[in-house]
Amino acid sequence: MALSRRATPRRYLMCSPRHFEVTYSINPWMDPGKPVDTPLAVAQWEQLRDLYRSLGHTVEELAPVPGLPDMVFAANGATVVDGRVLGARFAHRERVDEAAAHLDWYRAHGFAHVREPVHVNEGEGDFAVTASYVLAGRGFRASPLSHGEAQEFFGRPVIGLELVDPRHYHLDTALAVLDDSADEVMYYPPAFSPGSREVLRRLFPDALTAGAEDAAAFGLNAVSDGLRVVLPQAAAGLFGPLRERGFEPVGVDLSELLKGGGSVKCCTQELREPRDLRELRL
Ligand code: ARG
Repeated sequence: MALSRRATPRRYLMCSPRHFEVTYSINPWMDPGKPVDTPLAVAQWEQLRDLYRSLGHTVEELAPVPGLPDMVFAANGATVVDGRVLGARFAHRERVDEAAAHLDWYRAHGFAHVREPVHVNEGEGDFAVTASYVLAGRGFRASPLSHGEAQEFFGRPVIGLELVDPRHYHLDTALAVLDDSADEVMYYPPAFSPGSREVLRRLFPDALTAGAEDAAAFGLNAVSDGLRVVLPQAAAGLFGPLRERGFEPVGVDLSELLKGGGSVKCCTQELREPRDLRELRL
């Protein structure tokens, strides 16, 4: 296993939780009866944004829209691979209007290949990009038909994975890509059906697997630049195993956003340019 890790500079799109609240429940973490401290959510989110910048990454900001409280979970708005943008189509009516805000942003920022999807997909909530594959969750949000749509659009093999635990309703709550120049991931096996678990075992035999406690702390909702892995501080059990593999875990506190059922990765859309362009900037 490679122990000398290398970070590559990333470009992220994030959206401030200025209008974040929990007024509806579309996943088991959301309880509209529980108060949300919006200023605290903003402060925690700003720490994450500033952390990325201090690590040398570029963070773009999407303007939050009043009445769309889940927009802070910017990862759900699109999937960008090789500079090609597959927009989102949300499963729940409460989030449907977020998709247009994302599409508008991409069109206004010079992305030439932007596709408005035919089938339901919630962006990087259910799509994860490794060196060889696009991993694609289904079962709660993304339509299985979106997998074929993504494969055609990106020209990369899409591997469908069945999610079975409602607390892990999006792939990015159960699996994180640790090194996207290779095929290195970490995941929580019980979130997947037996067949999909077997697929993961075959594709990623050396993967780091998380325990129930770290998974419940949203430890798999992590963002890696190839070296630094940003994840919830509370997922304490993952820090040692990540270090053993040569990564540098960086813990953050996004407790307010957990009330919406999201954490680090959910707040972070990655704008993946064609690889040759990325290398030019190194
Ligand atoms: N409340 C949001 C929803 O249920 C949270 C989305 C979290 N985002 C993510 N990428 N998992 O849709």
